[in-house]
Amino acid sequence: MYQRTSDAFHRRMRVAVVTLMLSTGLGQAMASDDDVAKGKALYETTCGGCHSVDEDRIGPHHRDIVGRPVASAPGFDYSTALKMLGGTWTPERLDEWLSGTQKMAPGSKMYLELDDPHQRQLIIAFLESVSMKAPAKGTVDTHGP
Ligand code: HEC
Repeated sequence: MYQRTSDAFHRRMRVAVVTLMLSTGLGQAMASDDDVAKGKALYETTCGGCHSVDEDRIGPHHRDIVGRPVASAPGFDYSTALKMLGGTWTPERLDEWLSGTQKMAPGSKMYLELDDPHQRQLIIAFLESVSMKAPAKGTVDTHGP
């Protein structure tokens, strides 16, 4: 078990490394492991009451949220306001969302205003770390094996 390494695991690790290089190379503020850890802690206290990475709770799950179309978790009962927003979640749009959900999508079922930009940045760094499909900001195509 410990001797055998799985190809899928390696492939995933490679994607993770590529994603990390892209986000550190091209991102405005580079997210260190430390930022991700701080973001995770903030996520747990600020968002964890309603969200989890892999399960829909009061809010939808967050796996692959960066790069995921808005209001697209299968079976989750979204508000019309969020469904009308359209497009895909990017770090920039998440920043706008967390700055004031009712400003971005008036009538949404999520009420939150996080005024501290640093806290938003840390939480978004964590969300990016659970998003393998985060689109590169440059032109590099990260799709496919
Ligand atoms: C009180 C509960 C609650 C809290 C706390 C909360 N959310 Fe939400 N969240 C929701 C609900 C409900 C929705 C669905 C909104 C809708 O349909 O209008 C949502 C939707 C979202 C979406 C859109 C998901 C999608 O599939 O399009 C994101 C992103 C999000 N939340 C991030 C966060 C983050 C990050 C935090 C912490 C900083 C947070 N939320 C805190 C309840 C919450």
